Amino acid sequence: MMICTLISFFLYTQSTFGQNLSWNRPWPFVHETGATQPVSTDPDDPAIWVHPYRPDLSLIIGTDKTAMIGGLYVFDLNGVVQQHIGNIDRPNNVDIDYGFQINATHSIDLIVLTERIQKRLRIFSIDVSTRHVYEVPVTNPNVFVDSSGDHSAPMGIGLYKRRHDGKIYAIVSRKSGPSRGYLGQYELIWNGRSIDMKFIRYVGDFQGSEIESIVVDDQLGFVYYSDEGYGIRKYNIDPSHTDIAQVGLINTTNVWQGDSEGLALYTTSATDGYLIITDQLPNGSIFHFYERQGDNAYVQSIRTRADKTDGIDATSSYLEFSFI
Ligand SMILES: *[C@@H]1O[C@H](CO)[C@@H](O)[C@H](O)[C@H]1NC(C)=O
Ligand SMILES: *[C@@H]1O[C@H](CO)[C@@H](O)[C@H](O)[C@H]1NC(C)=O
Ligand SMILES: *[C@@H]1O[C@H](CO)[C@@H](O)[C@H](O)[C@H]1NC(C)=O
Ligand SMILES: *[C@@H]1O[C@H](CO)[C@@H](O)[C@H](O)[C@H]1NC(C)=O
Repeated sequence: MMICTLISFFLYTQSTFGQNLSWNRPWPFVHETGATQPVSTDPDDPAIWVHPYRPDLSLIIGTDKTAMIGGLYVFDLNGVVQQHIGNIDRPNNVDIDYGFQINATHSIDLIVLTERIQKRLRIFSIDVSTRHVYEVPVTNPNVFVDSSGDHSAPMGIGLYKRRHDGKIYAIVSRKSGPSRGYLGQYELIWNGRSIDMKFIRYVGDFQGSEIESIVVDDQLGFVYYSDEGYGIRKYNIDPSHTDIAQVGLINTTNVWQGDSEGLALYTTSATDGYLIITDQLPNGSIFHFYERQGDNAYVQSIRTRADKTDGIDATSSYLEFSFI
């Protein structure tokens, strides 16, 4: 597991190398600066929670996918396990967003994960003073309720917080789905005691092998997701936006050697930064960097020692890392 290693990669993204993404090109090799303690079986997807006023007390939340045995792991920035939450029936992906308003004066941060075999979402939050992760009840947690089999088995998740009103939506992908409307979008609504999930719409085309990885750019209002074996698709994610067609595509066909499993945003301002996409390779996943802004122009790639990287996360917050 190498989920924290991204942080140091950004030193290497300044120059443009051109457009040849061939896997055997001699990309710069970037060493990890640390790793978490191992988990028991099959780590899949991490998310970074940035502490509101003590960045060194930030946490890394990661899923370990094996049903009931795995679960959700909480690590500190030294990669040491702080908490393990078991009894989750194949936790697949996890995402975090901040400031879910529960009344006029209080908000909580949300950690949302897909529980694939139970075909539902599980939602957690963090007590900032103790850094304890606790579960938040969800009234109607099931997703894709009008489908069955793989079409109702959630995998990927990205949270979207709408800028103008702070509403938070879960964008969920599934093991298999239709060629139109693969992702489900659900609004999360606090009812005073628990969270109600309100189905909003199905969105997004599909023609590759499956869709797992999702990342949402809250500030610019886009969702990116990996249609594996086809490309990274981009859509407007505010459901009130009138343009529901695809607005961008990064073509990974014949360029990526493995699956494009990880997607993350690294922001450098409200509008600029990088979109990072992994090519999942044994003992050497490649991380490709694209511009966040505009038409997502290619920037460059790096090689790592990461073994078949699955999900990734990135933050540009200064965390005062203390990996040894
Ligand atoms: C891309 O790079 C690879 C490896 O360096 C090289 O073999 C190939 O010819 C290059 N392709 C193009 C189109 O430049
Ligand atoms: C808002 O919620 C918090 C946390 O549950 C509670 O302590 C506070 O009293 C609530 N405030 C109001 C105005 O209901
Ligand atoms: C993606 O690239 C492949 C290989 O170069 C090409 O055959 C395909 O038409 C491209 N797809 C799109 C949608 O442009
Ligand atoms: C993994 O990659 C590293 C660095 O490229 C190399 O030294 C090592 O031998 C490789 N290990 C395996 C098992 O292929």
